[in-house]
Amino acid sequence: MDLFEGILTRRSVRQFDTTKKISQSDLEDIIRAAQYAPSAHNKQPWEFFVITDKEQMTALRHVQPWTSFAKDASAVILVCGNTDEAFSRHKEDETWNYSDIDCSLASENLLLAAHAKGIGACFCGAAPMPKVIAGLQEMFSLPKNIRPLSIVILGYPKDEPKQPTDRFKPEKIHWNKW
Ligand SMILES: Cc1cc2nc3c(=O)[nH]c(=O)nc-3n(C[C@H](O)[C@H](O)[C@H](O)COP(=O)(O)O)c2cc1C
Repeated sequence: MDLFEGILTRRSVRQFDTTKKISQSDLEDIIRAAQYAPSAHNKQPWEFFVITDKEQMTALRHVQPWTSFAKDASAVILVCGNTDEAFSRHKEDETWNYSDIDCSLASENLLLAAHAKGIGACFCGAAPMPKVIAGLQEMFSLPKNIRPLSIVILGYPKDEPKQPTDRFKPEKIHWNKW
């Protein structure tokens, strides 16, 4: 699949063919692509928590209510940032941490790599929702410095996802002045 075509045709997939499982090597390939994302100061602060246990995937909805379709998934990947490793500043005048941004970019690579392999995926939010972050940390015994950014739900698509009409809005581009 051509990269540009892949970017335009990737859609969130929420209905899965429950008879088909994603192989471990495909999951590793997808995560490899995620690890090639850009990251602030090239810190690569990401960690990938892979869930394939049906009970755990089904239980995710108790922590993040818009993940109920994970019950039919083949795998779920929590893309987490190690906030101690991310490019950050903790000074009196400014405090910031690039963990969420780096993990967002890794998540998009992950979605596109899955799509390239014919695997459906949906990005579901974790950070910046404090209750979801705390719920996932508790559910999977994650250390406090491991901050889940996305819950990526994966499986082979049940149907061909519907494509939107053209999303391109030229009025969103501001050439040289607002
Ligand atoms: C930050 C973020 C959080 C999202 N959270 C959820 C979610 O909890 N559940 C869900 O089904 N989809 C979620 N989505 C997917 C969006 O609904 C989806 O990307 C959007 O409707 C556009 O559709 P597309 O991905 O097919 O282009 C989320 C997307 C983003 C970027």
